[in-house]
Amino acid sequence: MDDVELVKEKINIVDLISEYLPLKKAGVNFKTNCPFHSEKTASFVVSPERQIWHCFGCQKGGDVFTFLIEKEGMEFKEALEMLAKKAGVVLQKRTGDKKDSKDRLFEINLKAQEFFHYILTKHKLGKNALEYLEKRGLRPETIKEFGIGYAPNSWESLSKFLRKRGFTTEEIVTSGLGVASKSGCYDRFRGRITFPLFDGKEKLRGFSGRVLIPTEPKYINSPQTPIFDKSSFLFGLNLAKSQIREKKEVILVEGEMDMIASYQAGFKNVVASKGTALTEGQVDLIKKYSENLILGFDMDLAGDSASRRGIEIADKSGLDIKVIQLSGGKDAAEVIRENPALWQSAVEEAMPIYDYYLTSIAKRYDSKNPSDLKKIGEELIPIWAKITDDLVRERYIQRLSAFLKTEEKFMRDAVEKARQQPLKSYTGLLKKANLSDNIVSTKSRRELLEEYLITLLLHPPSESNFVPFFPETLFLAEKWRQLFVYLVLYLDSISFKSRSFNINEFVLDLPKELLAEVDRLYLMELDDRLMDDKSWKKELESVVSELKKALIKASLERLSLEIRNAQEFDKIDVMENLNKRFRDLSVKLKNL
Ligand code: GTP
Ligand code: MN
Repeated sequence: MDDVELVKEKINIVDLISEYLPLKKAGVNFKTNCPFHSEKTASFVVSPERQIWHCFGCQKGGDVFTFLIEKEGMEFKEALEMLAKKAGVVLQKRTGDKKDSKDRLFEINLKAQEFFHYILTKHKLGKNALEYLEKRGLRPETIKEFGIGYAPNSWESLSKFLRKRGFTTEEIVTSGLGVASKSGCYDRFRGRITFPLFDGKEKLRGFSGRVLIPTEPKYINSPQTPIFDKSSFLFGLNLAKSQIREKKEVILVEGEMDMIASYQAGFKNVVASKGTALTEGQVDLIKKYSENLILGFDMDLAGDSASRRGIEIADKSGLDIKVIQLSGGKDAAEVIRENPALWQSAVEEAMPIYDYYLTSIAKRYDSKNPSDLKKIGEELIPIWAKITDDLVRERYIQRLSAFLKTEEKFMRDAVEKARQQPLKSYTGLLKKANLSDNIVSTKSRRELLEEYLITLLLHPPSESNFVPFFPETLFLAEKWRQLFVYLVLYLDSISFKSRSFNINEFVLDLPKELLAEVDRLYLMELDDRLMDDKSWKKELESVVSELKKALIKASLERLSLEIRNAQEFDKIDVMENLNKRFRDLSVKLKNL
């Protein structure tokens, strides 16, 4: 057994999570409100038998390690060390593995950073760049604090420097500092001001570089590397995080220079998304520090669908979002350069995101013009439908109807209708366990029923010795079909030996892909009444019969098409045959 398994065996997940969250017993599992997204009803479930956790709301889940990684923002190694200590396990030293190669990448970045910063601040090659930064209002201590540098306009000065310090060409390329070429590699950053990209824990993950003379592209970034992923990175977090916590608010701006300008002017609770719309990774990061997000972008967020999606992600995760309005098309850096007090008042006057959407609409459209009115509806109704809080949603339904001079009831219905449409979460549906017809399309309903049937089979009442008798062809989804076959074999073996269902025994021989599915479904909370053998069987039968009906209906549809074809081509004998099959199936359907 390796260290990881040993630690896992000694730590009880229920005890560990209880140190953070109040767990309540729910059947064989434990439940509580999810710490990773905001919710009113508990959908965070912990299974003592499987030693796993899962949230049916935000779909996060895993074991003791992933819990600490998510909750404490630990690296895997840190989580392992902490839990090993708790469990009294002495970790074996691991050498030459992946962790070490990552450490090398952090080291190479730090060396490069030293080089760039030296060139900018001390070397004559950096003179122009330094003047440029001063012209843009950066003070020497800011340049130092941010570790800004300059990459000389040469193909190999950095690579040469790094090789002299003992780094291999391969390492230089893997770090993204060099680009592989026939003769080895050349420097990626040339003739650019460099911004070190430190993460929230002061780890140097990569660089961005800005040109001095207007050229395209204006900025380049380190590529994706084993230690850098742009999509979950926020520039400046290392310096801003304590102020973000203190002010309970984070200002998000677009660019490096905006962030630096705001920070230098004393508004330090600021980070930059580096030109991209908000991603899930960034939202998760923000949430670790604050619930209140103020967007300070210089573009029209409402008019841009990528921005809207980013905002939707932030809203869904429970962040409270406000928007700074910048006048005259200036970005944060420009406003601050002109007058820091203007920035301060703009931040203070930031307006709630939905008010901002309304003002943006008013600017872009004329609501008296019918085609504009249609566009407004298309743009805002889906957004309004996604407002999670009922009171807030109602308030903005009223606002929007007032603005458009339409009936509130009409608007409410439109928003309600848009709310009914998407049906992303399967849990939400199962909660309405009888799966009422009107909200689900036939296809997703069928998929859900298949999942639900497997879920039921994974939760037999304790005294049950039931072995399913229906054929696996009832399942259209390949994975459920496979899983069903495994289940039948297992249920048959325990029924034969009069033993009761044991989830760990069942998963023993399961392929890995199926195991993940089983874990997810096993954590599903079923109606209490289904603990009773009779009700459980009845529920099972009704699901099976509905699935059968769906199959027959599909066959009937196919048959009627064939019959119509046969009719058209006057194939009497074929038609008779088809008609008979149609009648037989119809009878079967009636009798179900
Ligand atoms: P300055 O001109 O230095 O003030 O930058 P800015 O922040 O005003 O630039 P802009 O508004 O054009 O872009 C915002 C941010 O997007 C920048 O800070 C960069 O992080 C990023 N960005 C801008 N241009 C590019 C580009 O060409 N490529 C990439 N990858 N990112 C860019
Ligand atoms: Mn700018």
